Amino acid sequence: MQAVILVGGEGTRLRPLTSTVPKPVVPLVDRPFIAFMLEWLTRHGVDDVIMSCGFLATAVRNVLGDGSSYGVRLRFVEEPDPRGTAGALKYAEELLDERFLMLNGDVLTDLDLTAQIAQHERTGAVATLALVGVEDPSAYGLVRTDDDGSVREFVEKPAPDQIDTNRISAGAYVLERSLLDLVPADRNVSIEREVWPRLVGQGLYAYGHDAYWLDIGTPERYLQGTFDIVEGKVRTGVAERLAGTYLAIAEDARLQGRTIPPAVVGRRVAAAADSQVGPLVVLGDGVTIGARSTVERSVVLQGAEIGSDCVLRDCIVAAGVRIGDRTRITGGAVLGEGATIGAENVVTRGARVSPGVEIPDGGLRF
Ligand code: GDD
Ligand code: MG
Repeated sequence: MQAVILVGGEGTRLRPLTSTVPKPVVPLVDRPFIAFMLEWLTRHGVDDVIMSCGFLATAVRNVLGDGSSYGVRLRFVEEPDPRGTAGALKYAEELLDERFLMLNGDVLTDLDLTAQIAQHERTGAVATLALVGVEDPSAYGLVRTDDDGSVREFVEKPAPDQIDTNRISAGAYVLERSLLDLVPADRNVSIEREVWPRLVGQGLYAYGHDAYWLDIGTPERYLQGTFDIVEGKVRTGVAERLAGTYLAIAEDARLQGRTIPPAVVGRRVAAAADSQVGPLVVLGDGVTIGARSTVERSVVLQGAEIGSDCVLRDCIVAAGVRIGDRTRITGGAVLGEGATIGAENVVTRGARVSPGVEIPDGGLRF
């Protein structure tokens, strides 16, 4: 089975994490995000993957290579200019089979693609999109369906007065090649705004399920996805590493304080005496944590250095960040790669610090 993954967006809502690393390869727990998608796809028989890239395509290619480490054939298609979700597909037309999957490249899910493909065959659909229920559909594509599963209406980013269902498109589609006839070539075309509305009544079906699903495209949802993975709420390869104990600690990590599960701790991590790591913590390779510091409900990426007597709670700290003593990073704050936060600072309330920024000792009190 073939799959096209759309990874051409700039990931602006996930900045500053995506200022230096493209969204598909932003580390999530212990692997690049897109690895979760590739593992999920291979469980459903996908062996041929086309990555439809735009922004920072070379960086994606450098991390993923030819796909052999994931057991798939991986090819990259780079648009000359952003073509939109359907335009990107059109641009990859020569490589496409008669039937294939298309996936938004930012969803974490274990939904049953095999069942979705089976339904697609049964109904003879041109396109079958997976549905999922969310609390607030306004940031998604709202889908109204008829009893036979056919789509009656598709409304991308509905206004408040258009919301009469919580069911949205999950960004996972089974498509027939004939769909490409509806897509004009050589320009930006949105599948959500231009193709789905035209396909209503012409073979557009919806597949409902109650599996785990999350769009990881904002810092809040990135943290939520991290917690859900380490708690085993979604089926992933990480759950196998955590089996039984909810702890995955590299052999050469030196943790002198307390470790509270769930936690994933990378290679050469050092946490000094009386520190607390966990619950719900991911520490990347080479992270250091000073004496009496607490890290909980947070992600600290590779090589970050945390001083003593610090508190990190509900935050994301990108690679190579340095944090001085007695500093608090809380409340959804996100520190970009290589930022330096001096001693005795407070960074909170969703503050986002750009990569490389230096904040002096005591310079910030949010
Ligand atoms: N190649 C390419 N070219 N990819 C693109 C382009 C482009 O011009 N524009 C967006 N993408 C990719 C993004 O990288 C992302 O993986 C996917 O297409 C969807 O784009 P987002 O920007 O994340 O869209 P969204 O989250 O606001 O909405 C979409 O996803 C929702 C589910 O998460 C829509 O498909 C909604 O209908 C859907 O509900
Ligand atoms: Mg998205």
